[in-house]
Amino acid sequence: MTAASAATLPPSVTDLRRRLPADFAFGTATAAYQIEGAVAADGRSPSIWDAYCERPGAILGGDTGETTCDHYHRYAADADLLGWLGARFYRFSISWPRVLPEGSGRIEQRGLDFYRRLLDALDRNGVEPWVTLYHWDLPQVLQERDGGWAARSTAEAFAEFALVVHDALGDRIAHWTTLNEPFCSAFYGYAAGTQAPGVVDGPSAIAAGHHLMLGHGLALRAMRERRPDHRFGVTLNLSPVEAATAAAADQDAARRIDARRNRFFLDPILRGSYPADMVAELPQVDWEHLVRPGDLATIAQPLDLLGVNYYRRFVARAADPSGASAASASPAADTLVDAEAPAAAEPTPHVGCEDVEFVATGRPRTQMGWEIDPEGLTELLLRLHRDYPVPPLYLTENGMAHADEVGADGRVADPERIAYLRTHLEACADAIDRGVDLRGYFAWSFLDNFEWSLGLERRFGLVHVDYETQQRTPKDSAYWYRDLVAAETPRLRGTANRTEVLGAEHVRRSTAGVDPLAAPLQDLVTTACWGTVWERPELPRPTRSLVTVSLLAALGHHDELAVHVRGALRNGCTPEQIAEAVTHTAVYAGAPAALAAMRVVVATVREASPQDGP
Ligand code: FCB
Repeated sequence: MTAASAATLPPSVTDLRRRLPADFAFGTATAAYQIEGAVAADGRSPSIWDAYCERPGAILGGDTGETTCDHYHRYAADADLLGWLGARFYRFSISWPRVLPEGSGRIEQRGLDFYRRLLDALDRNGVEPWVTLYHWDLPQVLQERDGGWAARSTAEAFAEFALVVHDALGDRIAHWTTLNEPFCSAFYGYAAGTQAPGVVDGPSAIAAGHHLMLGHGLALRAMRERRPDHRFGVTLNLSPVEAATAAAADQDAARRIDARRNRFFLDPILRGSYPADMVAELPQVDWEHLVRPGDLATIAQPLDLLGVNYYRRFVARAADPSGASAASASPAADTLVDAEAPAAAEPTPHVGCEDVEFVATGRPRTQMGWEIDPEGLTELLLRLHRDYPVPPLYLTENGMAHADEVGADGRVADPERIAYLRTHLEACADAIDRGVDLRGYFAWSFLDNFEWSLGLERRFGLVHVDYETQQRTPKDSAYWYRDLVAAETPRLRGTANRTEVLGAEHVRRSTAGVDPLAAPLQDLVTTACWGTVWERPELPRPTRSLVTVSLLAALGHHDELAVHVRGALRNGCTPEQIAEAVTHTAVYAGAPAALAAMRVVVATVREASPQDGP
């Protein structure tokens, strides 16, 4: 970051950026079922989530993933918005039932084509893809045929799916995570029943957990054989777990929760063994039959990276058998249960921990009811660093839900989310200072989206989505994050189609924190844009005019700008088109430059046609 650009950024951003390594990678994340919609398009078959959404009462408000953000059709504008945001990575998942509608076997080319179009759009915007192969949307056909992840055959089918995607798109994607949060797939999906497929059966949950990890190992090994140069890993949702008191029963409760949430995944993946205490405590599981010779070695494939999703800590205690303690216990024993829901109503995801309850610590909560606890993140990262042979770590998800609304002025003011992101990134910096090899951070989420059983009401996005109109509005936190990451990647990004997502309204809102073009960047812009435009005579003259206008506006060359505005009018461009082209300026030169240029445009257009000026 240059001194000049640092001087223009708000202090919280510069201070924070300075605390993180220069090559620290920023990103945002989404998942296929949460944003794509178009559930029946181009040969996609139903996933377990489509089936789960049909269960009466399963999803808050009766919402479904049928349309959600309609990203399947709006991916190009969304990619432009990611380009505008400027973070290096975009983590998204591939929908298995789009690619293999029968779960295995027949490949649906149209499904793969969608992801290739998305990759092209990201590429145009200078955004690097980071792919999750499984973010919870198992083809329903595999659930019905074999019992989903409770069956070993699903691990094999997953490896097949992973290779199909890797073979088809591997020329364009370097970062791969096999699974997102196998804890949720296994324990919410098969023990608590609060996520698809909605099964309530402890041993099935353990089997699902094992087969998920087996699938991870099989897939990773096969992909790495093809492309050892790619970077492979898995994403786990992990939490610090502590006991409410020093009493033996509470300590034991915390140990057992830690085993289910953390060690059941970390131990086999990083050490090649299951936690002995948990195995001993669950005799109802036929471990010998489940874990076949060689499975643990397959699961413990070396990793190039470990993805960590962090949202909260758990404070556990043994329930008071008389029920007297229930009033002070945290309602959110299950991370996906509404904060207002009664704790006892749900089966626990923590198999064998029916007697454990969770205590609130009094910290402020998000819209999910989860306590905001950045120190917990530092603790978690330090524990991984201390207790496990971890590869480089990436925080692949972190963020908060808040009931955001678009205000009368068109803004979405979300200072709570800015504070959340800032304090959690500071927690990352604290961990790095103490020796943790943390390489990057992905904000959950890029867009507001379908928050699983909590439907569309819980808004996690940096960008607000109006589900009626599909209008995207970057929240204040998006502008904040954009300032932060601008310090990381001061390179010029693709400018195609940005006006689609950056209306005049956004220009107005673009803060003064954006770096005015520094001299070397000006040269780059001049050669890149001018060169590409004027060396392409096949482009229509009005298009070339508009790009020139936008470029001169960004450079602040107002005399020449006036000349080219007149030229653009002569070439048939409308005043509206010219004004729109100037909105580009805000992307790389900031609002003041855009406004100054707009004044020149208005004056020039008025002069050119005084009777019908804008
Ligand atoms: C994680 C999921 C993600 C999102 C966030 C809030 O558990 O990976 O899809 O729902 O929680």
